[in-house]
Amino acid sequence: MSEARLVDLIRSHTARLTVIGQGYVGLPLAVEFARAGFPVTGLDSDAGRVAALRLGHSHSPDLEDQDLIGLVRDGRYEVTSDFSVLERSDVVIICVPTPLRKSKDPDISFVMAAAEAVAARFRPGKVIILESTTYPGTTEELLLPMLEGRGAKAGENLFLAFSPERIDPGNRAFRLRDIPKVVGGVTTACTQMAALLYRQIVAKVLEVSNPTVAELAKLYENVFRNVNIALANEFALMCGRLGVRTREVIDAAATKPFGFLPFYPGPGIGGHCIGIDPFYLAWKMRLNGYEARFIHVADEINQSMPAHVVELLTDALNRRRRCLHGAKILALGVAYKRGVGDIRESPALEVLTRLRDKGAAVSYADPYVPSISLDGVALKSVEVTDGELAAADCVVILTDHPEFDYRRIVEVAPLVVDTRNATWGIPAPAGRVIAL
Ligand SMILES: NC(=O)c1ccc[n+]([C@@H]2O[C@H](COP(=O)([O-])OP(=O)(O)OC[C@H]3O[C@@H](n4cnc5c(N)ncnc54)[C@H](O)[C@@H]3O)[C@@H](O)[C@H]2O)c1
Repeated sequence: MSEARLVDLIRSHTARLTVIGQGYVGLPLAVEFARAGFPVTGLDSDAGRVAALRLGHSHSPDLEDQDLIGLVRDGRYEVTSDFSVLERSDVVIICVPTPLRKSKDPDISFVMAAAEAVAARFRPGKVIILESTTYPGTTEELLLPMLEGRGAKAGENLFLAFSPERIDPGNRAFRLRDIPKVVGGVTTACTQMAALLYRQIVAKVLEVSNPTVAELAKLYENVFRNVNIALANEFALMCGRLGVRTREVIDAAATKPFGFLPFYPGPGIGGHCIGIDPFYLAWKMRLNGYEARFIHVADEINQSMPAHVVELLTDALNRRRRCLHGAKILALGVAYKRGVGDIRESPALEVLTRLRDKGAAVSYADPYVPSISLDGVALKSVEVTDGELAAADCVVILTDHPEFDYRRIVEVAPLVVDTRNATWGIPAPAGRVIAL
């Protein structure tokens, strides 16, 4: 009964949808369903975020304010921090953070809080989907008992599934609707219901056997990326010792048309996912008596990169008879990756903190990040003028934002440490550019 009703509501785009968590993941997802005509509510516990979204201020690089304002004005998207909306929802999708504790163990308190809020207001006949990246087993071991404890029966009056979000904020080539969705429900009916829902907004949906497969698929994607970045970073350390430019070697290897995928070195790993998610798997495996060795080695290499960047910079200054203490260092980019303003876990912040600790006078420029705080000291982004470039003892490129004029930087700055190979191919006097 509730199954047929839900199918009708989804097919006719009249199912009332609530997306819990309106961050980088939840906001674009909610908006995509709203654009498809579903009545959508974004539910977020952060009152400031709710107020900003209501006014049409988007924090997502994938959503223009004008689009958000239009959806709010037309009543297709509303946002609230009132959890009673869950009572009226046919579909609830959970997109809350899954960070690590200081011990590098998973912190699933946000998922638990959201799931408890859903369970407390459960009525038969709902689709509930978890999208937050998490350890294998979360959906079946945590969410299912919470919901079944409220009288729900999976596959009959509750359709529970895991479907990982794979969005890449700021990526214009692959937007939400272009990225295939993987869906694993706790029963076949749950998988089919969740898949039907996503087919309304995404071209390709892959149904897998159960939530654990879907949870693991996401983790494997991010472990793959983390380990390959670590390999590229270690390769850069080796190339440095051999006096070879890493980028040239990787690009040469990448001409092989099969069996190779290029990854490039950088100042470390950042963002909410790549450096964090592997530990969700490592933790679960440890409970199962297995140490995830690749994950630990990769993390060790990636975590060593900020210190390596500082060493590169110190050596480069040293060759010019300058010491780091008292040197003027201009950092270009503090976001964890190109084209976004996200500084969560950004290795650039660690590089800058280490430089300051060693007595350097640090300033930074980032068109996406107007200000940062380094150990409680506030810094404001500066303009990248010829004056700023020429006045620095060293310019260090930490994020390869497309807005920077790399040719000009190489021309004007006396010394450049390029951790992103952003200056690759630009002619420079000998010793001017030091690259990873
Ligand atoms: N950012 C990415 O690129 C990305 C990509 C794929 C997957 N993910 C995963 O998606 C999940 C969400 O990440 P994000 O980047 O959107 O996080 P975020 O921090 O940008 O947003 C999370 C939002 O959830 C809200 N929130 C927290 N607890 C809540 C609760 N109990 N009830 C209501 N709202 C609550 C917060 O206020 C915040 O606005 C994480 O598991 C992350 O690993 C992120």
